Amino acid sequence: MIRVIFLGPPGSGKGTQAHLISNKYNIANISTGEILRKLSLYNQSNGIDFDNTFVNTMNAGHLIDDELIIKLIIQRIQQADCSNGFILDGFPRTINQALSIKQKNISIDFVMEFNVSDIVVIDRIIGRQIHINSGRTYHVKYNPPKHYGIDDMTGEKLIFRTDDNVEAVQQRLDQYYKYTKPLSKFYEKELELGNLLYFSVNANRKVSQIYKELINIFKLHKF
Ligand code: AP5
Ligand code: MG
Repeated sequence: MIRVIFLGPPGSGKGTQAHLISNKYNIANISTGEILRKLSLYNQSNGIDFDNTFVNTMNAGHLIDDELIIKLIIQRIQQADCSNGFILDGFPRTINQALSIKQKNISIDFVMEFNVSDIVVIDRIIGRQIHINSGRTYHVKYNPPKHYGIDDMTGEKLIFRTDDNVEAVQQRLDQYYKYTKPLSKFYEKELELGNLLYFSVNANRKVSQIYKELINIFKLHKF
């Protein structure tokens, strides 16, 4: 059982590493951003009430209400594929969200914080393309698909995310510094209390270098 949180700004590579790590350890890969994108596309929520205006909020680069996000995560974590563990990519993003899982006694083993400069963030996000159904992520320069605009595995079309433009990214960065960055202190305290392990990772490097560091950390702690 391994339960991990990936913390970090937009474009820091959380989703890219989450796919690699979940495959390696056979644990569930849970991205709140992906859950919301699918919700907006398929309009199905397993009984959770939601208001479609959240799509406008996302496109503007603002955070979605804690209440909806917490309900989606609590429901998702109870699914069978989480029995071996999970990675939370993009959750929590507020102190309130972090407290919600703590209060429900959902234990976390590792928090990995991805640190990256704002310039790198913008460069990575502007060139990103995704395969909507799988969440596979490409970059026109740093991680291109075999054929431009086509997913390697399915042959389906890739898309640019509607929130991947300079204006929305700037807003996402602002939201990150205002609401999410305070979680570093929160998890430093959890580390001091012996509740979990917390690591800060230099995410300005290549995908393979970051992956290697993450694997080494897990190995060192017997996973
Ligand atoms: P979400 O989808 O989670 O977006 P994000 O946090 O802004 O993060 P990104 O997905 O943009 O970046 P990433 O770190 O996953 O980077 P990636 O691996 O793709 O959330 C979207 C929206 O949903 C939010 O703005 C908010 O509205 C809402 N939301 C989601 N969760 C929420 C929550 N908990 N509470 C409230 N609202 C919430 O990499 C980026 C690009 O760089 C890719 O093209 C990739 O190929 C490339 N790349 C990755 N690593 C490297 C590398 N090392 N070197 C070079 N290129 C790289
Ligand atoms: Mg992502």
